[in-house]
Amino acid sequence: MELELQSLEREARQLLETLSDSHGLEEFRIRYLGRKGQFSTILRKLGTVSEEDRPRLGLLANSLKENIERLFTERLTEIQSSSGANEKSAISLDLTLPGRIMETGRLHPVTQIMQEVCAIFENLGFSVAEGPDVEQDYYNFEALNIPAHHPARDMHDTFYVSDSILLRTHTSPMQARIMETRQPPLRVIAPGKVYRCDSDITHTPMFHQVEGFLVDKHVSFADLKGVLTVFTQKMFEQELPLRFRPSFFPFTEPSAEVDIACVICGGSGCRVCKKSGWLEILGSGMIDPEVFRMVGYDPEVYSGFAFGLGIERIAMLKYGIDDIRLYYENDQRFLSQF
Ligand code: PHE
Repeated sequence: MELELQSLEREARQLLETLSDSHGLEEFRIRYLGRKGQFSTILRKLGTVSEEDRPRLGLLANSLKENIERLFTERLTEIQSSSGANEKSAISLDLTLPGRIMETGRLHPVTQIMQEVCAIFENLGFSVAEGPDVEQDYYNFEALNIPAHHPARDMHDTFYVSDSILLRTHTSPMQARIMETRQPPLRVIAPGKVYRCDSDITHTPMFHQVEGFLVDKHVSFADLKGVLTVFTQKMFEQELPLRFRPSFFPFTEPSAEVDIACVICGGSGCRVCKKSGWLEILGSGMIDPEVFRMVGYDPEVYSGFAFGLGIERIAMLKYGIDDIRLYYENDQRFLSQF
């Protein structure tokens, strides 16, 4: 048994020298030092040797085993510290590499402008309301004083879902929806998608509008002008001259289209403003007494103004974008600029 022990110790010591990774060391530990390892197996056999040899052999076995355990621990720390050193040198190499840039998402430019427009009006005391894209004929046309024979009701302009259901062609139905359920004073903006059968470099079949309206006693055209002046100055971050051009909408009287001095050339005339020096940004007017009558407001008591502006158009003017279709092509080279 003594010889057996000594050759086992030698064998283990030699093997330990050749091991160079933690995986090999673990196998070694199980094979020699574990509960079912070779030293334990021999120690268990001590019961079979004569009583006089037992203490001596016991001592020898234990001291040889301890010797191997000590060498094993030394080897283990050696291997661990050298692999740690390797890791460190790998990290210092990595530091010379450029970092990996994380692509972050962002809001679509139309959404950004929409939020900006809403924020400006919210600061003026307007509250935000949203309504359905799939709208009843009644709210899109009837309640807005647009009679059955009006050209806007033609199939060429409007997407119909059925005879009386359609995709709203503007956000103005929200005027009727809100006024029907609330009493003045009212200050509301209604952002959202609108749909028209139209497609070219300045029209897409779906686009975005923000409707705004204010109803109270003694509201005048001057209030409309004041609110829109503040809005354009905040939106375009400069004092732009405004121009009201007489126009016609069945639901406002009088009606006006509002132009701002061209943000590109400052009014001297360029390609964007087609040499006129002015850019049209919205439709507006004083709410027609007929619209008030239909929602049950007394037009002798209340007056109000309304306006509707196209978001894509505002963004095109603000950023100098010359083709509306760019918004909807999902080209990262375009979108990542905002
Ligand atoms: N709804 C009109 C349009 O889409 C704009 C408008 C809104 C005009 C409110 C007057 C008052 O063109």
